[in-house]
Amino acid sequence: MPNSPEFPVIRPRRLRRTAALRRLVAETRVHPSDLVLPVFVKEGLTEPLEIASMPGVFQHSVDSVRKLAVEAARAGIGGLMPFGIPLLRDAIGSAATDPNGILNVTTRAIREEIGDDLVVIPDLCLDEFTDHGHCGVLRPDGTVDNDASLMRYAEMGLTLAESGADLLGASGMMDGQIGYVRAALDEAGRTDTGLLAYAAKYASAFYGPFRDAVESQLQGDRRTYQQDNANTTEALHEIDLDIQQGADIVMVKPALPYLDIVKAAAERSPVPVAAYHISGEYAQIVAAAERGWIDRDAAILESLTSIKRAGAGIIATYAALEAAALLR
Ligand code: PBG
Repeated sequence: MPNSPEFPVIRPRRLRRTAALRRLVAETRVHPSDLVLPVFVKEGLTEPLEIASMPGVFQHSVDSVRKLAVEAARAGIGGLMPFGIPLLRDAIGSAATDPNGILNVTTRAIREEIGDDLVVIPDLCLDEFTDHGHCGVLRPDGTVDNDASLMRYAEMGLTLAESGADLLGASGMMDGQIGYVRAALDEAGRTDTGLLAYAAKYASAFYGPFRDAVESQLQGDRRTYQQDNANTTEALHEIDLDIQQGADIVMVKPALPYLDIVKAAAERSPVPVAAYHISGEYAQIVAAAERGWIDRDAAILESLTSIKRAGAGIIATYAALEAAALLR
């Protein structure tokens, strides 16, 4: 019977028989240095505060983020992406361009703690700083004013560059933001400060927990500037535009629901491609694992491996530290 022609000669299962065989033939490996940890720092906090919709993720104080930065550097992860939560918000997001505003203070503190051991990528966007919660400034009729927002981004970008940012995480989805901020940085002699462009950023329901984390005051949605999730061509156009305007890295966000876009970006981009495994993606895993419905560690590693397999060499994830520990 074993030699009957009906039985297979070619047996792919042979290479799956042991963990050692599987390891030998694995095509994709996630390394801690691929991972970037987003961190939230709230002005005036003295103790870290756990975010209800993101168990295991905290709003940090400036002191506690220093410790976290040291831990992240020891874990060998690639970088940190700080987000600031100011005490005072206003229409133009004044705290974003204040050298003593929370994001600038955080950027300097992290830099002081870890030197050049981690890539520091503060968020270049106004939404944490505006009282209306939009990513830009508004016209009198309440719509987002693209070009007035660019001027604020340029000012914010310069301040963050002075505070020690390696890269600026341009996440606002205003037209021309990469070119405009690039020109402002260059004019100021900041040619070494790079731009990580949130090139294809979709209006996503999965940002919910993030908006809790930054105590967002947004009413409504961001659909006039973030992309419609029905579209691919638009994402490719956005990616091309950001590359033409000088993006050093292009990012796709969210990650798992948009792996087709990650793959398309990797196929066409001459610069490194990143993907952001966002708050809702993290929260789903944590919530299901808390109920015992899925295995947390395995789900995290499977998610990150899939994102890398699709073509993202860099992954922003709230699970960066635990993944680094699992991968060690
Ligand atoms: C905007 C910004 C957002 C996220 C990162 N940068 C929120 C939004 O666009 O509403 C979301 C990240 C996440 O959900 O983890 N500055």
